[in-house]
Amino acid sequence: MADASIESVLKEDRKFDPPGHFKARALVDDARLSSMHERAGKDHAGFWADLARREIDWHRPFDTALDDSDAPFFKWFADGELNVAYNCLDRHLEDRGDKTAIIFEGDDGAVEHISYRELHARVCMFANALKARDIGLSDRVVIYMPNTPQAVVAMLACARIGAIHSVVFGGFSAPSLKDRIEDAQARAVITADGNYRGGKLIPLKDTVDKALADGCESIETVIVLKRAGNDVSMDDGRDVWWDKAIDGQPAECEPEWVEAEHPLFILYTSGSTGKPKGIQHSTGGYLLGAIVTCKWVFDLQDDDVFWCTADVGWITGHSYITYGPTALGATQVVFEGVPTYPEGDRFWKMVDDHKVSIFYTAPTAIRALMKLGNELPQKHELDSLRLLGTVGEPINPEAWMWYHRVIGHEQCPIVDTWWQTETGAQMIAPVPGVTPTKPGSCTHALPGISAEILDEEGRPVTAADKGGNLVISRPWPHMLRTIWGDPDRYKSTYFGKYGNQVYVVGDAAERDEEGYFRILGRTDDVVNISGHRLGTMEVESALVAHEAVAEAAVVSRPHEVKGEAIVAFAILKSGEPGEALAGELRNWVSEQLGAIAKPEEIRFADGLPKTRSGKIMRRLLRAIARGEQITQDTSTLENPQIIEQLQRAGR
Ligand code: WT7
Repeated sequence: MADASIESVLKEDRKFDPPGHFKARALVDDARLSSMHERAGKDHAGFWADLARREIDWHRPFDTALDDSDAPFFKWFADGELNVAYNCLDRHLEDRGDKTAIIFEGDDGAVEHISYRELHARVCMFANALKARDIGLSDRVVIYMPNTPQAVVAMLACARIGAIHSVVFGGFSAPSLKDRIEDAQARAVITADGNYRGGKLIPLKDTVDKALADGCESIETVIVLKRAGNDVSMDDGRDVWWDKAIDGQPAECEPEWVEAEHPLFILYTSGSTGKPKGIQHSTGGYLLGAIVTCKWVFDLQDDDVFWCTADVGWITGHSYITYGPTALGATQVVFEGVPTYPEGDRFWKMVDDHKVSIFYTAPTAIRALMKLGNELPQKHELDSLRLLGTVGEPINPEAWMWYHRVIGHEQCPIVDTWWQTETGAQMIAPVPGVTPTKPGSCTHALPGISAEILDEEGRPVTAADKGGNLVISRPWPHMLRTIWGDPDRYKSTYFGKYGNQVYVVGDAAERDEEGYFRILGRTDDVVNISGHRLGTMEVESALVAHEAVAEAAVVSRPHEVKGEAIVAFAILKSGEPGEALAGELRNWVSEQLGAIAKPEEIRFADGLPKTRSGKIMRRLLRAIARGEQITQDTSTLENPQIIEQLQRAGR
């Protein structure tokens, strides 16, 4: 289709009703959605309690839904007991034992189908292997794995024995891995020798060895999956191959029944300050969020083939690979590779090959694939698809329209889902059989989610198209419980602004005249690169850790594919400013933090624009990085001449 048609549609600000064929079979219709909103409005805790009783198999039922006596440390279903792995596996064995749980496709294209019975057996064996290495209730286990069924098995095995997993994305560097291991005081690491992504070897075990080389004294066990077959060194007392560890272990393992508030996992994410935050999630409330959103937003049904393209190293992979779809007994695709390998139609080929009906990916991937042209998706039928989704960052209307037309053939609703690592599950998103969608809007809050926009004084922003701070003004079951080891930071980061009941998201948002939410971006010093959060402070710390750098400031500018890209300003204490050093510093940051943190551009100067009180004027740097006219008052600057120098450095 011609690009001009996309343009004209954009100018119309169109709205798309759910297609009739979709509505006809949707799990949630207009009446059901209205009655849920009504019930939640009247009795917030009661609404969630009903769902929790219906959707979860409890070992011991709960009496109390919400305990807010120690706000903002909320408890949900606290006197109930359950096991997440039981809910994701055992409860399906009778009716769906032979149903495919996972269709795994490796980077090399090899495909494997795993039934619920088989997945259950593998999880039990691995859980027993962990127990044999003395890992048990509340022990922390770091999982640093490729996106494979074994990563899912490792997570569910931890859940089965009440151990707390902390998955670290395989793209993170050794220093980042070490920080996370030490913060969590983990006793074990589960990893692989290496794996291939886009045909390139990722030497995971080598990175683990580097991370453990100094420090990480809490680690006693490293379990290593043989995946790539690359050479690795094994430490006799500490390291064991996965196959050896499960050898002879029984395929049954009694679940550890834990209280609903028992921590299911920790997942690190970036904040405004240098140190990543260990977001701690609960067992019962978290599971409920993953389940209900799979039903409401994905309309996930028994005959669907679901595919979430995220990696299990991110919250999206936790909620919409490991936990949500399995808790519903669904069939899903798990993919180890990248969208453009071996060719730019890998996703579309896989959709056809596996008859994917629900497809969930990130705007950055959509934009990258859109750039490759329409011919690649047009080589494939894509007629199994019935629903498309996005997550991670605002999707620009042009990409939305392309997704709608070229991938969805105008037959599939698009669910633009807003949520965060901290929220555990989707929060603001369309209910696809009911909500008319608008390109670039995540539409409305889900039932039981009290999303509002407040001004600086805490007054609701009611005028259309006027921005403010997005907040969630009531606790919800799948919210984070605390920051691991740092309850004060939890309280001040999320509840410092409007009191102990109102969760502050950290995003700015606005609503249009019909109440549709549009997310405008972060309000803190956090940038969003390819749908993943990075604190600018983290990148600055990495830069000043280099011997040549005296001072650094990091901002973002819009990027066609990645959403945002990092621009760093560096003041040197040694070395020559120029291409060579810029290249070295970019690689340095990548080694320190991981490839996603690699700055797009580094500019050298003699100083940074600062106020007289010494604060770096980041807004000014942002304008400079974006090549915008400087409209701000620069008269308060201590060193106004620096601006021109910084602008010149970019030419
Ligand atoms: C931040 C959370 C939730 C999994 C992926 C990212 C941004 C997320 C959307 C969306 C606009 C979005 C927000 C949010 N974000 N989804 N649909 N539209 N912005 O998780 O790393 O915790 O990042 O991503 O800024 O605060 P995360």
